Amino acid sequence: MYSLLLAVGFLLGGPLYVSAQCPDYADYSTQKHEPFSEGKYSLSYQRPSPSCRTFNSSDVEQTIQEMRDIIKDPDLYRLFENTFPNTLDTTISWKGFASGNAEEELTFITTGDIVAMWLRDSANQMRSYKPLLEANSSTDSLASLFRGAINLQARYLLTSPHCNAFQAPVESGKPPEDNSAADTDTVVPSYDKNFVFECKYELDSLSAFLQLSYDYYDKTQDSDFFGKFQWVKAIETVVTTAEQLLVGTYADDGHVNDSPYTFQRTTTSASETLLNKGAGSPVKGGTGLVRSAFRPSDDSTIFQLFIPANMMFSSYLGKSAAIMEKHDSDLAQRMSDLSASVRNGIETYGKVQHPTFGEIYAYEIDGFGSSNLMDDANVPSLLSAPIIDYVDASDSTYQSTRKFVLSTSDPYYMHGPVLNGTGGPHVGPGKAWPMSIIVSLLSSDDDNEIISGLRQIVSSTNELGLIHESVDTFNAAQWTRQWFSWANGLFGQLLLDLKDRKPGILSTSFQA
Ligand SMILES: *[C@@H]1O[C@H](CO)[C@@H](O)[C@H](O)[C@H]1NC(C)=O
Ligand SMILES: *[C@@H]1O[C@H](CO)[C@@H](O)[C@H](O)[C@H]1NC(C)=O
Ligand SMILES: *[C@@H]1O[C@H](CO)[C@@H](O)[C@H](O)[C@H]1NC(C)=O
Repeated sequence: MYSLLLAVGFLLGGPLYVSAQCPDYADYSTQKHEPFSEGKYSLSYQRPSPSCRTFNSSDVEQTIQEMRDIIKDPDLYRLFENTFPNTLDTTISWKGFASGNAEEELTFITTGDIVAMWLRDSANQMRSYKPLLEANSSTDSLASLFRGAINLQARYLLTSPHCNAFQAPVESGKPPEDNSAADTDTVVPSYDKNFVFECKYELDSLSAFLQLSYDYYDKTQDSDFFGKFQWVKAIETVVTTAEQLLVGTYADDGHVNDSPYTFQRTTTSASETLLNKGAGSPVKGGTGLVRSAFRPSDDSTIFQLFIPANMMFSSYLGKSAAIMEKHDSDLAQRMSDLSASVRNGIETYGKVQHPTFGEIYAYEIDGFGSSNLMDDANVPSLLSAPIIDYVDASDSTYQSTRKFVLSTSDPYYMHGPVLNGTGGPHVGPGKAWPMSIIVSLLSSDDDNEIISGLRQIVSSTNELGLIHESVDTFNAAQWTRQWFSWANGLFGQLLLDLKDRKPGILSTSFQA
């Protein structure tokens, strides 16, 4: 059960820590640990002991203490106390400097139970600490973690802009993780398995780098940082990659265009490979929308003009253009132009008329007139459109879309006595994802909806006190992924958001 973890980190030029006998959190998070919370759900304490935590932040510890007086329900507080620090406690797998530049910080952040860094997960794992982020040049600060994540993502994207998950940097001395699921993958452009863990092209991965950059800049105004290392070049790669993915399947004269990316896997699951020899369903060019072969669930798209990722891309490309202005004004202009044309594509082609809900955003379209009306829990989702700063939550098309998504008209809406929310084909029908409930509360102004959602989350952790990937809507003991750092961080982010927006709700009791 307990593996001997001999973690020897060389940070600041010396050994950071040598810890023996730290439990493997993948096992630890499947068991209950005392002291249990004193409410009716008797939730486990799930923080590793201080010497086994992967990063210490006094700001995070202080916030955990402050929230003790604000969150009145003992079970809800326990869930906050476990989840908010989970990324720092368990997933900062390595932090150090680039071998080529002693000032270039690098942060390798794993997803939790999988030892690889996803561009999307790591950007969101960091985002949960955005409320506490401020300018700070110390390598012990949250700001340093952000800088290290931005620098490492830039390195990944410069080499493999179509890939979604990556190996530890060579400087860490950690060997590449074997990904047997990818053994049969045939991917164009090709990639190096010592550098890349998986190479599913997802537009939201490119957007995640932009979001992470914007989040850091938004709170620190640290413009100089972006000019120091490889950020400008990485953004140029992101923009060029996206521009190449504006192409449709057919040229004007009828020839078939080369697909900028193809992926095939030997699999029994339809969502793990792409049809048409790895190119995906035909796409009509000229919509202004950028193709995405896969979704943020890492499942393949049915139609490649995937609206939520286009929303996220347009949103953070536009915001990051302001950072670029000081470094390369031509590139900043290219970013603003592309951001505007993607938004125009979404507003022109991405909306459909639904017989019950009126005008709503489609999840995916092909540009020929077909659309896929659904939502999936993973962010970016349609439900998350205000969270990714694309649209205000009061927008009428968003509100109609939200009603559709949270209704039985959405093919991936799951309901039952345990919890109600969206899921997706990644885990399959019958399993709602707590992440979707968290997103519905982050985008809600309705106190009853927020209280009902918090009750569903706090009552459905199977006493483990962590946010699971999915939970069976009829049986809380049937869940997936015991250690999903992004979902944990997102829950912490929700409670900090409610502290500012709806403090009264945090004095609600969930014991009845
Ligand atoms: C965090 O602090 C504890 C002491 O409270 C220490 O044992 C541990 O090594 C620190 N972790 C890191 C990554 O510095
Ligand atoms: C910077 O961060 C470090 C580590 O969290 C902290 O000790 C220090 O007080 C911070 N400095 C400022 C100026 O906030
Ligand atoms: C889910 O929604 C249904 C109505 O659609 C409601 O009866 C049920 O109580 C809800 N489940 C939870 C756990 O709130």
